Amino acid sequence: MKNWEIELKELGFCHIKNQTENQLNDIIFELGNVINETDVIANSESKSLVTSDKYLDFHTDNHLAKYIIWYCIKPAEEGGYSQLCDAEIIFEQLNEKEKNELSKIHVYEHKMYPENKNSNPIVRETNGKIKFYYSFWLAREKYRKLEVFQKWRELIQNSNHTKLKLEKSDLLIIDNHRIFHGRTDIKGERNLKRYWINPDFKPTKTLYNQN
Ligand SMILES: [Fe+2]
Repeated sequence: MKNWEIELKELGFCHIKNQTENQLNDIIFELGNVINETDVIANSESKSLVTSDKYLDFHTDNHLAKYIIWYCIKPAEEGGYSQLCDAEIIFEQLNEKEKNELSKIHVYEHKMYPENKNSNPIVRETNGKIKFYYSFWLAREKYRKLEVFQKWRELIQNSNHTKLKLEKSDLLIIDNHRIFHGRTDIKGERNLKRYWINPDFKPTKTLYNQN
């Protein structure tokens, strides 16, 4: 295993500085199928959440993306820090009853692919592996009111986050089933290439593009 693969496995994410496009493509090739490729250009004109310049709360992307890679084309003049939160650490702070309650809370999922479900549980265990799916703004009001949900959110907001800044040609890879991501406000324009990667299969078709 290469160093970045070990780091990705252990920490759930890996920040690799100063990579060429060839190096980027080698890494993508190691990880699996690209199911979506998007230019994430953030600026103050945008009305979409992903491409706006505003703070973005912790969340996971589409559940069919096991990994997300961002490749920095142009860093923000100021701000635009990526923030990461390890859901496994948060989850361990809950008791068994709370863990069980959380597994019954479903969060809405945009149907970008025919293979998407309408929603996914915040936590699910399959074949001994725990997968997380979470977005505060995609959770229904009735769930947001639950004590366990509020505790979960509070733990996320107050945990020790990893905060890093992507400079030109930097790569950030995360395990989207484990690491929640968000970012701080952006000043000026920031331009990232984002790849969603699934090691196992390619969806039959893309129904729409998110941006
Ligand atoms: Fe995202």
